[in-house]
Amino acid sequence: MAISVNPGKVAHSCDKRLPAGRREAFKLKALRDFTLCMGRSRDFDESLHLALMVILGTYSIAKGALFLEEDGEFRVRVSRGLPPGIPPIDKSADLVAALRRTRRPVSLGRTTINGAIRKAASDVERAVPTFTVEFLCPLGARNGYLGILVLGPTFSGEPMTVRQRETLSVMTSFLSTHISNQRVIADISRLNDVLRFQMEENERLIDGMREIYIDTIRALATAIEAKDPYTRGHSERVAKISVSIAKGLDLPEGEVEAIHIASILHDVGKIGTAKNILNKPSALTPEEIGEVRKHPRTSFEILSKIRFPYPNVALLARDHHELLDGSGYPAGKREHQIPIGSRIIALADAFDAMVSDRPYRDGLSLVATLTEIRSCIYRHYDPNVARVFLRYLRNEISGESPVPVIFPELRRGYSRVEALDIIVRTLRDLN
Ligand SMILES: [Fe+2]
Repeated sequence: MAISVNPGKVAHSCDKRLPAGRREAFKLKALRDFTLCMGRSRDFDESLHLALMVILGTYSIAKGALFLEEDGEFRVRVSRGLPPGIPPIDKSADLVAALRRTRRPVSLGRTTINGAIRKAASDVERAVPTFTVEFLCPLGARNGYLGILVLGPTFSGEPMTVRQRETLSVMTSFLSTHISNQRVIADISRLNDVLRFQMEENERLIDGMREIYIDTIRALATAIEAKDPYTRGHSERVAKISVSIAKGLDLPEGEVEAIHIASILHDVGKIGTAKNILNKPSALTPEEIGEVRKHPRTSFEILSKIRFPYPNVALLARDHHELLDGSGYPAGKREHQIPIGSRIIALADAFDAMVSDRPYRDGLSLVATLTEIRSCIYRHYDPNVARVFLRYLRNEISGESPVPVIFPELRRGYSRVEALDIIVRTLRDLN
């Protein structure tokens, strides 16, 4: 809020011709005006300008200037009645020492004035020959001198009374506090800007590193898929489905990330399986099945040597073929012995494997896949995991999901009505 003060119209707050009661009232009004203009203005320069106007108005002074410390000198920040281009006052050690000793407004009319203070006033007068410095007010703070307020003579030409000087001293003290506070706010704001910039920079770096990290993980998965071309894209599809389920189960962010990585790399152990077994166009022999079943442990051995930023990635990959009834491998774990992340990957992996073509068979239809999964819930697959998965699939098939995750990965034809029917029936049984 702007406060308009005309120095020509403001009465002498402490005019010695006024009765004592009115003098005190004027003094209080001057201080009130001063504190109001400090508190109301949001712009620093505007607040300084208003403060100067209130001081000039209170004492009926036509000219004055406020110098603030900047880069080792005192520079004019706001002025009234003076031409632009007033040079800075040199912040000499003598002047600073004199201001520290003085602290209160100094009348230049006195005969015993410190030489450094008189020189500062003379420098201003030399730069502005039409200006006579009558008062020089140090604006100090604990951490050093913030500025100097110079004031010309009053309209009447009379010297200030003791009471007037007291009020002026209180005003300059308020002004010092105001300037000091603004400096602290500006420092904090600058620090905030630096911190915000550094945080944004760190976030960009972390995002960049995360992308590199995920790309490296993907490259590793691709290396496996090169050996087993029928599983091309399988890891990425399983990862998308697994992450959707993990988020649908409201798992913590770190656990979702671990599931993401483990689902991309769950089959990395197949790097140790012979290529002719992986690509065999007919059913595997019991020995060959035994070889394939080694891959979860090999995945664990490979992944446990990597320091992931998320916990249990290697464990989640190791247990992705474990089934709730203990019929899975490699350890035959049951129910809650199997980590939730592995239970999620198990269902996503089974779903994608069933709908995908293999060297020894074509992929199953969506309805046949859902029928198979429905028959294995509780026995093989976690019902809570299945519920979330089927809800996603239902929403995607019925067009309710704005960004389908599972459905675009389906490469085979399907009967929408039949698929929805089996999903709805299964969800009803699960609820
Ligand atoms: Fe596997």
